[in-house]
Amino acid sequence: MSNLIRETVTSVHHWNDTLFSFTTTRNQGLRFKNGHFTMIGLEIENKPLLRAYSIASANYEEEMEFFSIKVQDGPLTQHLQMLEVGDNVLVGTKPVGTLVSDNLLPGKNLYLLSTGTGLAPFMSIIKDFEIYEQFDHVILTHGVRYVSELAYQDRIEHELPENEYFGEMVKSQLKYYPTVTREAFRNEGRLTDLIESGKLFADLNLPEPNLEDDRFMLCGSPAMLKDLCRILEERGFKEARGGNPGHFVIERAFVEK
Ligand code: A2P
Repeated sequence: MSNLIRETVTSVHHWNDTLFSFTTTRNQGLRFKNGHFTMIGLEIENKPLLRAYSIASANYEEEMEFFSIKVQDGPLTQHLQMLEVGDNVLVGTKPVGTLVSDNLLPGKNLYLLSTGTGLAPFMSIIKDFEIYEQFDHVILTHGVRYVSELAYQDRIEHELPENEYFGEMVKSQLKYYPTVTREAFRNEGRLTDLIESGKLFADLNLPEPNLEDDRFMLCGSPAMLKDLCRILEERGFKEARGGNPGHFVIERAFVEK
């Protein structure tokens, strides 16, 4: 257990029947980049049961935040969803990940494309001051099945723009695009279809992406990543690999929990 620290749950928020978020204390020594993930888990029958979770809090915040699905027979999430304030959670001391802007070539527009709990690392990234210095526009998309799955909507639309340190940057540079596939909403349809039809860009009042100006970070289910990679590669965008920066980076949303 040398790579794990025991932290204490400080708050729990259930968004709906299938999604919840919680915050924990943060060890002073724990360092990470916005967009990183780490192992988290619980001790079940005296053994640590761990899964990779993106960190939803920013690296300068005092607490750690995580966003999770609830699966009734999920080995970890059947227990994790019962967490209450004061409980212990194991947190890995070595966060890592590819969703960091160092892996991207310079550009003007940064698209953060997520579905489901793939939103988590982007909640950290949209609180990163440097991101707003590196890009003119930061576009956060969140594709979900039902409106109740649009977690963090209120925080993104109402709290972040009022933040005393970076609220002005959020107001002028962050564009939030939630989209729902299985019930009526102001934006509907899969991100893949919205990109291929050009509707996403028309709705955002931005030009169709080009190799010089546009960069992408992707986080979602394996199927979503596969389809989006294909769409980007068909347009000539290259994934960052082996330490070479590229036009886009991907991370799985770690869905099997
Ligand atoms: P849909 O309702 O059409 O399946 P999930 O909970 O299955 O991960 O899905 C989250 C969101 O991602 C849903 O809106 C779902 O749309 C969408 N989605 C699922 N598969 C893909 C894919 N291959 N490409 C883009 N979006 C997808």
